[in-house]
Amino acid sequence: MRILGIESSCDETAASVVENGRVILSNVIASQAEEHKQYGGVVPELASRRHCENILWVVQKALSDANMTLQEVDAIAVTYAPGLIGALLVGVSFAKGLAMMTGKPLIPVHHTEGHAAANYLVHPELKPPYLGIIVSGGHTRIAEVQDYTCFRTVGRTRDDAAGECFDKCARAMGFPYPGGVHVDEAAQRGNAAAFRMPKTKMDGNPYDFSFSGLKTYVVNFLHNAEQRGETVNTDDMAAALQQEIARTVTDKTIAAAKELGYRTVALSGGVSANSGVRNALSAACAENGITFCMPPVALCGDNAAMIAAQGYYNYLAGITADMSLNAVASKELRSETAQNPA
Ligand code: KG4
Ligand code: ZN
Repeated sequence: MRILGIESSCDETAASVVENGRVILSNVIASQAEEHKQYGGVVPELASRRHCENILWVVQKALSDANMTLQEVDAIAVTYAPGLIGALLVGVSFAKGLAMMTGKPLIPVHHTEGHAAANYLVHPELKPPYLGIIVSGGHTRIAEVQDYTCFRTVGRTRDDAAGECFDKCARAMGFPYPGGVHVDEAAQRGNAAAFRMPKTKMDGNPYDFSFSGLKTYVVNFLHNAEQRGETVNTDDMAAALQQEIARTVTDKTIAAAKELGYRTVALSGGVSANSGVRNALSAACAENGITFCMPPVALCGDNAAMIAAQGYYNYLAGITADMSLNAVASKELRSETAQNPA
């Protein structure tokens, strides 16, 4: 079964054809990052306008790269939540138009569940149940992937996502948007021991995350230093920040895997491209005899191949939508929310 996936939740317009949820036939991503860079972050209305301009050629290219016509596609999967509402609406409306015109099934995909599915594209052996750790610009979540379409949240961020923390700290360090990758590069040169980062203490669920304290500490530290006319070694700062985020993600994920008895952990989301997070979690999994999966860096960020992959499993589970499908900005998982369209 060959599924056309469409993704437009933030600042990437993407389309892809994937066979049986596992094999990428094409994968086209039109990133707007260069344009948003001048504003220091994503401008929602600009993102929607660019999606409108790009979506047709991106979908056409995904079909031609896969050597297929629209009629040869078996179904159309689209990200309907969460994300910037005006951005999501472009992909949802376009996918609805294609489904209406062709009579093909329309499959709603939750963006976070889509990130987790990026691992299916490169790890043929990966099958639920496993423990997912999805770390992104908009969400940070540990979830039991009990079945392909049944997720149970174990812990999530109570405030900022890890990517938000990377990006805001990067901005204060003087790096352009999106800053995570620049912190990663600077961290390779820096000495993490040069700074002591605050440890976040939280009551309640030990698997929840909180990154706003860390973000505020770094931003205030840099602003105060600037006001005093002092220079800060941003390589060292980046290394310490990255180490702290990687440590937090790793410690909580390993503890959850042990408590819940999972022998497989799969990392995904934009921040899974971070070398500190990748290395720390893969080393900790190896130490604890846990099988570890992560996507290649090219499939960590937003793409439509992951949406088509998750779309395949949604379709097998009977999760399809009709023309009443709407975009939803909220962050809950499809399998855990009453707002789900299927
Ligand atoms: O999954 P994604 O592309 O979009 C959302 O769903 O949010 O994640 C984007 C996030 C941004 O915060 C970006 O800075 C971060 O992923 N990111 C990184 C790295 N590459 C991307 N953060 C740290 N290190 C990286 N190498
Ligand atoms: Zn994403």
